[in-house]
Amino acid sequence: MRIQPARKLRGRVRVPGDKSISHRAAIIAALAATGGRSRLTNYATSADCAATLTCLDALGVTVRRAAGDALEIEGSGVRLSHAPRAPLDCGNSGTTMRLLAGLLAGQSFTSTLTGDASLRSRPMRRIVEPLLLMGARVMSEGGRAPLRVEGRSPLNAIRYALPVASAQVKSCVLFAGLNAGGRTEVVEARGATRDHTERLLTLFGADVHTELKDYEGRPAVPFVSLETPVGLRARDCNIAGDISSAAFFAAAAALVPGSDVTLAEVGLNPTRTGLLDVLRRLGADVSVTDERTESGEERGELRVRGHDGGLAPVSANANVLGGELIANVIDELPILCVLGTQVEGGLEIRDAAELRVKETDRIAAMVKNLRALGAEVEEYADGLGVRGRTPLRGARLESFGDHRIAMACTVAALIAEGESELEGAEAVAVSFPEFFTLLESVTER
Ligand code: S3P
Repeated sequence: MRIQPARKLRGRVRVPGDKSISHRAAIIAALAATGGRSRLTNYATSADCAATLTCLDALGVTVRRAAGDALEIEGSGVRLSHAPRAPLDCGNSGTTMRLLAGLLAGQSFTSTLTGDASLRSRPMRRIVEPLLLMGARVMSEGGRAPLRVEGRSPLNAIRYALPVASAQVKSCVLFAGLNAGGRTEVVEARGATRDHTERLLTLFGADVHTELKDYEGRPAVPFVSLETPVGLRARDCNIAGDISSAAFFAAAAALVPGSDVTLAEVGLNPTRTGLLDVLRRLGADVSVTDERTESGEERGELRVRGHDGGLAPVSANANVLGGELIANVIDELPILCVLGTQVEGGLEIRDAAELRVKETDRIAAMVKNLRALGAEVEEYADGLGVRGRTPLRGARLESFGDHRIAMACTVAALIAEGESELEGAEAVAVSFPEFFTLLESVTER
């Protein structure tokens, strides 16, 4: 794909439904008591979320496309009756694999989860370990997929302290907990992560509670507990727009002077809005209006304007991102690296080694692409540092098959001088198939 620089970005965009929420809403709707029909609107258009629906279908769950963009899902209870006939293909989607593994661990049948080459290279020991403790048998290939899950019912209820700050691992244990006897507890010992699973389980009627307690010398550590038996009831759920998709438009608007972009109905769950704090700290003009909560999730209208003076930090230490903030902005770090090249004082990202085990090694991918664009970048084991206020020039860029790398590179190409070429642009479909069309609709050249 060839990308020309932008003069400015102006207009209003409605990004598709949130990917993280969509996966969970579909799975939880499928687990509602038999006969209950849930209606999901604004379900993500992403290939990842389609993979979740395909897997649910293979597990005997009825998923119907209804009028408009609605999906209707028939609940079949937390005990699935249908052993899949073939391995469940999760495609590129780590969330599909890790969440379904938790659910499958508590079934009375054996199933296999697999995925594409990227997903089969990602770490799965992080979910295998707690599922073994709960009494399931899970076989992996040296800690990687395919995963063969020999379910056990009921599972043992455990208290599990997360060794990595991962919402996928937390959710895996909670989904397994639906079929455990008693109280399952997850301690977010490495910091809080997105809490969509907890909110949706609560919306559908489960007994889920989060308490903040001291843990091993750290204050305010979330302890998430789930009690069984769980009676999930079918619900209608309107899924908020994906802030991680909106992030590319927000960053582009902040980067290009004279831009003014409004993003309608964007999810504003505080476990996901670190991006807005970072943008503001780096001097961007960000405002939120029409805030409201629906289906258990905050949402509102986000407006970002690019001003002539460029980006400059408004507080001390604003140029360093690290610690507990990282889990909140984990998917936004590639685009924040691009932003960092234009901020006075640059940007340093630390404590983000998790980026190395995403759909690709996102640290290595961004270092390579930013250097090709003429940025000055230092690579660390757990992050990277970019020098600020550096003019970028058009280059050959590569997505490495990773949707967020493709989109971050596209925004970088908009602010570069001259044309860029992006290889593997089609990867955007994994989370945001409409990305290029929507971006063109607000870009002036
Ligand atoms: C997700 C959690 C994050 C994130 C991913 C979606 C989720 O992954 O990067 O895009 O929906 O739970 P980890 O849990 O591995 O950090």
